Amino acid sequence: MDIKNSELFKNQCYINGSWVNADDGSTSNIVNPANSKQLGTVPNCGSNEALKAIKAAKEAYKVWSKTDAKQRSSVLKNLHRLMLEHQEDLARIITHEGGKPLSESMGEIAYAASFFEWFSEEAKRVYGDVIPGHQQDRRTLVIKQPIGVVGCITPWNFPSAMLARKIAPAIAVGCTVVAKPAPETPYSATAMAYLSELAGIPKGVFNVVTGDAEKIGSVMTTHKEVKKITFTGSTAVGKQLLKQSADTVKKVSLELGGHAPFIVFEDANLEDAVDGALIAKYRNSGQTCVCANRIYVQSSIYDDFSKRFTEKASQLVVGDGLAESTQQGPLISEDAMKKASAHVEDAKNKGATIATGGNPHSLGGLFFEPTVLTGVSDEMLIAQEETFGPVAPIFSFDSEKEVLERANNTPYGLAAYFYTSDLGKSWRVSEQLDYGMVGLNTGIISTEMAPFGGIKESGIGREGSKYGVDDYLEMKYISLAGIEE
Ligand code: SIN
Repeated sequence: MDIKNSELFKNQCYINGSWVNADDGSTSNIVNPANSKQLGTVPNCGSNEALKAIKAAKEAYKVWSKTDAKQRSSVLKNLHRLMLEHQEDLARIITHEGGKPLSESMGEIAYAASFFEWFSEEAKRVYGDVIPGHQQDRRTLVIKQPIGVVGCITPWNFPSAMLARKIAPAIAVGCTVVAKPAPETPYSATAMAYLSELAGIPKGVFNVVTGDAEKIGSVMTTHKEVKKITFTGSTAVGKQLLKQSADTVKKVSLELGGHAPFIVFEDANLEDAVDGALIAKYRNSGQTCVCANRIYVQSSIYDDFSKRFTEKASQLVVGDGLAESTQQGPLISEDAMKKASAHVEDAKNKGATIATGGNPHSLGGLFFEPTVLTGVSDEMLIAQEETFGPVAPIFSFDSEKEVLERANNTPYGLAAYFYTSDLGKSWRVSEQLDYGMVGLNTGIISTEMAPFGGIKESGIGREGSKYGVDDYLEMKYISLAGIEE
């Protein structure tokens, strides 16, 4: 891999501060989705290695949970600095293993690093409470303590940022972590483990186990010493992990699928709305869980919006993410290609028009054309399922009431977007959208300073912001009696 510091490219797991192979020596191949070339291998670990990592995390917890907040804050600050010092190398690793354009990968590293900075600060603000006593000789206190060993399962679409968003708050409050990165993108996680050691995070506090998702996930979710599971990925897998975690009554946080509506009212600034929709749809080739999946445009401006949006979408430059001009990289897998094609085919068969794209790209492999569909209706598959690809369906609507009903008519509730210049409508619609996050006159909502997460079948819990530590803490009430002389 063409990176300046070759130490960042690790093809082993990181358990208890050591770089290790799978017990049986088996490995999995990792390929670049832009050209299907092999980048390297990683250990194909399973239950044994997961158990070793949990044991290491449990031992490390005994010490780490007792360290003072300033010490925890200081190592996270170091990690923030190191991530930025190695930003370009880390970004290249993301682009090699996940395919996104290098400029987006650079942005992802800055985003990932921001969680270490933010939670290095929050480490010092884990406050308790003193509550008025209910009897004269009593005082009521609340303290917050780290929950224990955390099992962390992360996706391929943001291999660095999603890991950072989970481990930063965990480590900040005194938890220890066993992380299992997505099988497609392990190198961002092992690079982070390498930097965590340089940052001064002690052995056993952060462990990375690559390999068999089912075996590792099953150990994590059923082991009694793992007190919390945090997962970002599909709703189907999230439900499975939730069930598996039930017997040991673990605290679980889930950041799952979305099916984001993007509503453009006739009083919106049209040019801003077009640009917002482009970024919300095509970022990471449409492979983010907050991607605009259903673009609703009020009928009076439907043709104008569709024309402008299609023109810009058709100009997006598709190619290898390492090429400077690339704006849209490959999809992650053949399955992703099939899903994008199936959504286009179904829409076409039910009467939609392909305004641009609609096919695998002439570059071949895992490249798909930026696609716009018009004349789309609610019976089409694309109206009901997350595409996770660069296909933008544009629906028409007449009234605020109608579009709210249609936007909310889904089991998902992660992100929603709308554009308007009407103040009353801004507030009304924000309140009535059944989603955990709303972008109002913007297509970008992600920041470490705000609570990221969904409602309904899109998840449980929030990541980032001052609320991001809550999932890694237990609250303890102390009733202090015998105050009276
Ligand atoms: C995701 O797709 O899971 C996260 C996207 C983001 O944080 O912007």
